[in-house]
Amino acid sequence: MDRGTAEYYERSYADRAPGAQRRWPNEEFCRFMGRTLLKFPPAQRSAIRILEAGCGTGCNLWMVAKEGFEAHGLDFSREGISLAETLFEEMEVRAQVAFGDMTQMRYPDAYFDCVFEVLSATCLSDEEHSLFLDCVQRVLKPDGWFFTFTLGKGCTDWKGPGNVMRSGSSEVYQYENPLRYTTVDELTADLERRRFTVKRAETMLRTYNQGTVVLEAVVLEAQRG
Ligand SMILES: C[S@@+](CC[C@H](N)C(=O)[O-])C[C@H]1O[C@@H](n2cnc3c(N)ncnc32)[C@H](O)[C@@H]1O
Repeated sequence: MDRGTAEYYERSYADRAPGAQRRWPNEEFCRFMGRTLLKFPPAQRSAIRILEAGCGTGCNLWMVAKEGFEAHGLDFSREGISLAETLFEEMEVRAQVAFGDMTQMRYPDAYFDCVFEVLSATCLSDEEHSLFLDCVQRVLKPDGWFFTFTLGKGCTDWKGPGNVMRSGSSEVYQYENPLRYTTVDELTADLERRRFTVKRAETMLRTYNQGTVVLEAVVLEAQRG
């Protein structure tokens, strides 16, 4: 675990609450849910267990709970968890959020039907990311879904040649800690090595600052073998 990252989020959530994060879910995650788990009728959803790794202030997770799934979150920022709990109350939903490191998950084997992350795995070093994917493989049921929305090397901020960039130089994020950038091919290989079947692997581009800065997200969904 990178203590700098944990401290950064602790401070950032405390200083900027309640507007520290957006309130609504990531749009690509909504699309993934629409294609997959929202196909289950509401009466069956309470038996479907979903984990968000690095759930922050709960902006994705409240929707998961609202749709009737068993919603779990994991984050190493107590401030983030506290803001998430306030949001769940406001949205009148129940979700279980645990304090912990997404590279050392304590859940039982084959516990979840789906694990997802949105811009939290990008905070991990290469080694930590590998540990994270090992955890995801372990805690997912066979055929369970993994969804990831993470920064790609098409970002203006990525200056290479390694995967991890010490930031502060970011033109998009006001962020002081290292960020890891990847590609569809690298992430696909990481998952296939762990016997996942990649179902969709796309990139999403958007620009900032009147088109001068590009943010590329790698958006990938896979099923555990
Ligand atoms: C950019 S925020 C994203 C939060 C949320 N997923 C969202 O979409 O708004 C990244 C989150 O990942 C969490 N995080 C980063 N590294 C982590 C780790 N090793 N274990 C647990 N949480 C971590 C941070 O505390 C932060 O809440």
